[in-house]
Amino acid sequence: MRMDVFDTVRGVQEKISELKQQGYGIGFVPTMGALHRGHLSLVDACTRDNEVTVVSIFVNPTQFNQREDFEQYPRDLDGDIKKLGEAGANIIFTPAEKEMYPEPDNRVFDFDGLDKVMEGKHRPGHFNGVAQIVSRLFDIIRPHRAYFGEKDFQQLVIIRNLTSQLNLDIEIVSCPIVRESDGLARSSRNVRLTEKQRKHAPKIAEAIHKARDLAGDYSVEEVIQSVTEHVNNDPYIDVEYFEIVDEKNLQPIETWDDAYYKRACIAAWVGKVRLIDNVPYYF
Ligand code: PAF
Repeated sequence: MRMDVFDTVRGVQEKISELKQQGYGIGFVPTMGALHRGHLSLVDACTRDNEVTVVSIFVNPTQFNQREDFEQYPRDLDGDIKKLGEAGANIIFTPAEKEMYPEPDNRVFDFDGLDKVMEGKHRPGHFNGVAQIVSRLFDIIRPHRAYFGEKDFQQLVIIRNLTSQLNLDIEIVSCPIVRESDGLARSSRNVRLTEKQRKHAPKIAEAIHKARDLAGDYSVEEVIQSVTEHVNNDPYIDVEYFEIVDEKNLQPIETWDDAYYKRACIAAWVGKVRLIDNVPYYF
């Protein structure tokens, strides 16, 4: 199947309904572009599971807290389309802002506190914006399956919650974090790091992985303190938060026995670039 690019809702919907009538399974990967190997691993999983892979590229203004961050978010539409062609995507949806939001979206979602911790605490309104765009994209594409990376772990949990509160018959598939060879989690923001900052940034991943191996010998509080201090000792990095949470409700745990499926989540500033990472602590 050849690759088609659409920038209108009507165009993409007509194509998808034609393919659905022919009985094809539709997989969907929503993105904000500036694609790297992390995104391409989602596309890969999608092409493996579905006859048709749809990818959207849209930098969603409603999920940014600062206009500057939205404006500086990297964009490379031609490069992205080329990569998606090589990766085997079939339909690319690249709407303009007016197409996605012909009217302002005033919907307010309730995620039962999932959106109030970690990223939500530091980026108020962020997940409401994510839910606005993802629900709108789901409504347009109506895929059988949708693919999200574990790097945005809190987003993944919230999307699962959104899908179930809207009663959508969409399977949410999660894909593992893709890392650079030095451990840094792949992110579209990495390109904004200077050479020096890029050399220091892997300390974030290194600290949360090392702490997992030592965790059993120390209390939760001690591990949190030691990781935070260790990363903050790097003159290029400032930790915004480091929390170990129960994967189900994203609430911080107090003792290791509070949950089996625990996740250590970190956000840190490297200069003006905000990076996030996480790792499962399953024991
Ligand atoms: O994870 C992202 O890139 C974005 O939050 C998403 C899901 C594409 C919504 O804009």
